Amino acid sequence: MYSEKVMDHFNNPRNVGELENPSGVGTVGNAKCGDIMRMYLDIDGNGIIQEARFKTFGCGAAVATSSMATELVKGKTIQQALAVTNRAVMEALDGLPPAKVHCSLLAEEAIHAALWDYAQKHGIVIEGLEKPVSDIEEKTQEEEYS
Ligand code: FES
Repeated sequence: MYSEKVMDHFNNPRNVGELENPSGVGTVGNAKCGDIMRMYLDIDGNGIIQEARFKTFGCGAAVATSSMATELVKGKTIQQALAVTNRAVMEALDGLPPAKVHCSLLAEEAIHAALWDYAQKHGIVIEGLEKPVSDIEEKTQEEEYS
């Protein structure tokens, strides 16, 4: 049912934990399943993401997608991090079962929430970044994610 990569990131999640004084931190949840994900980013003066950490209170797929998302955004520019969509995370994990697609959306939205927080703190506007939702149920009802 789950790919080897999903099982690997679930059993050995990368970048678990918190960052002290993060540049940006974002928390998103899904009211339907009750899962919550918090993402911490450390962004240097050149706009490069130096560190990413996460804490996820959720299902195995949510842990695996958070882990992969942190790996994918590390070393990236803010604009490149915006390209780390839920589809990109799923592809990097060799796919997720249909019922677990929404878990990858938590990862995308948590990255956006952390970047939004960074932008707010620095008084900047990140092109292409929309105000994140705190409950992704609002999004899954609006759009089809598959
Ligand atoms: Fe909701 Fe996985 S079941 S995030």
